[in-house]
Amino acid sequence: MKIHHVLLFCFLSAAFCGGNTGTVSGQLSTYTGAAGGNGTMKCYLPVSGNTKFFCKEECQNVVTVTDGVTAKSGRYSITYRNVSLKTVILSVNFINLTQTDSGRYRCGLGKTFVAPDSYWNFEIRVSDAPLGITSDFVRTNTEGENATYECITAVGEGAFFFCKNQCRKQEDVLMNTTSLKAQSGRYAIEFIRGSIFGLYVTITKVNKSDTRWYRCGYGDPWSPNSNFSFPVLVNGECVVRLMKMLLHNLCSVQNI
Ligand SMILES: *[C@@H]1O[C@H](CO)[C@@H](O)[C@H](O)[C@H]1NC(C)=O
Ligand SMILES: *[C@@H]1O[C@H](CO)[C@@H](O)[C@H](O)[C@H]1NC(C)=O
Ligand SMILES: *[C@@H]1O[C@H](CO)[C@@H](O)[C@H](O)[C@H]1NC(C)=O
Ligand SMILES: *[C@@H]1O[C@H](CO)[C@@H](O)[C@H](O)[C@H]1NC(C)=O
Ligand SMILES: *[C@@H]1O[C@H](CO)[C@@H](O)[C@H](O)[C@H]1NC(C)=O
Ligand SMILES: *[C@@H]1O[C@H](CO)[C@@H](O)[C@H](O)[C@H]1NC(C)=O
Ligand SMILES: *[C@@H]1O[C@H](CO)[C@@H](O)[C@H](O)[C@H]1NC(C)=O
Repeated sequence: MKIHHVLLFCFLSAAFCGGNTGTVSGQLSTYTGAAGGNGTMKCYLPVSGNTKFFCKEECQNVVTVTDGVTAKSGRYSITYRNVSLKTVILSVNFINLTQTDSGRYRCGLGKTFVAPDSYWNFEIRVSDAPLGITSDFVRTNTEGENATYECITAVGEGAFFFCKNQCRKQEDVLMNTTSLKAQSGRYAIEFIRGSIFGLYVTITKVNKSDTRWYRCGYGDPWSPNSNFSFPVLVNGECVVRLMKMLLHNLCSVQNI
C-alpha cells in the first residue's frame, strides 16, 4: 500500500494533491475553505483498482464510493478522470461548507476502500472568518510545520532549482543542484524518479516571513527548461492580503 502525503497548494480552480512512493513529507497538508462556500480537492493518484472512494477520518466514515466516473452524496461528490496512462485525478467537491466538514479525509483507489492500493490524506478546515474566496480551498501552513510542495511542470532531469520570488537575483536562488536530494538550511529539494510530480521542494519549520511566491523547476534557475510558481501562505491572516494582491497571478497557475 502506498501512502500519499505530498501535495500542492490550491487556488481558484481547485486544490491539488497527490504523490507517489512519497514519504517526502510526513505532514498532513491542510486546506482551508470558507463557511458557506465550496471547494474542490484534486487527488492525483497512480492508476489502480476500480473503486474510487472519499471518506472522513481515515475511513471510519465513508462519504462516497463508486465504480463509475462520478458519484454524489449530499453535499459531496467525486469525479474521476485519467490524466495519463499512469495517473488519475479524483476530484472531491464540497458544497455549502459548514464547521462539521472540518476534519481529516482520505481519497483513494483500489479494489475496496478498506484495503486501498493508493490513497492520500488531507485535512480540511472551515473558516468563519472571510478568506477572500468562497469558491475554493486554500492550502494553509501553520508556523513551525515543514511545508512540501510538488513542482508541477514538465519533468526534466539533470539539474533542479528552488527560488523565492521571481528568481531574478542571485539572492532569490535558494537551491541550484544536480543532486537528486539536497538540503540547504531550511530548504530542501528532492527528485523522485517515476513519482507523479517528480520534483518536490520543502521549507522546514515555516514561519510568517516565508509567506511569498516561490519557483521551482528543471535546468538553470535563470533560464529554466521548465518551471512552476506557487505561493506559500503561513498562518491564516496572511491569506486575505495575499489573495487580493495576487489574484491575477494565481489565475495563471490554476490550470496545469
Ligand atoms: C457552490 O456550488 C453550488 C452548486 O454548484 C452553487 O449553487 C453555489 O452558488 C456555489 N456557492 C458558492 C459560494 O460559490
Ligand atoms: C446549498 O446552499 C444553497 C443556498 O443556501 C441551497 O439552495 C442548496 O440547496 C444547498 N445545497 C445542498 C446540497 O445543501
Ligand atoms: C481510465 O483508464 C483506464 C485504463 O487505463 C480505463 O479502464 C478507464 O475506463 C479510464 N477511465 C476514464 C474515466 O476514462
Ligand atoms: C521537518 O524537517 C526536519 C528536517 O528534515 C526534520 O528534522 C523534522 O523532523 C521535520 N519535522 C516534522 C514535524 O516533520
Ligand atoms: C546553477 O549551477 C550551475 C552549476 O551547477 C551554474 O553553472 C549556474 O551558473 C548556476 N545558476 C545560478 C543562477 O546560480
Ligand atoms: C523565519 O524564517 C527566516 C528565514 O526565512 C529567519 O530568518 C527567521 O529567523 C525565522 N523567524 C523565526 C521566528 O523563526
Ligand atoms: C516558466 O513556466 C511558464 C509556463 O508555466 C512559462 O510561460 C515561463 O516562460 C517560464 N519561465 C521561464 C523564466 O522560463
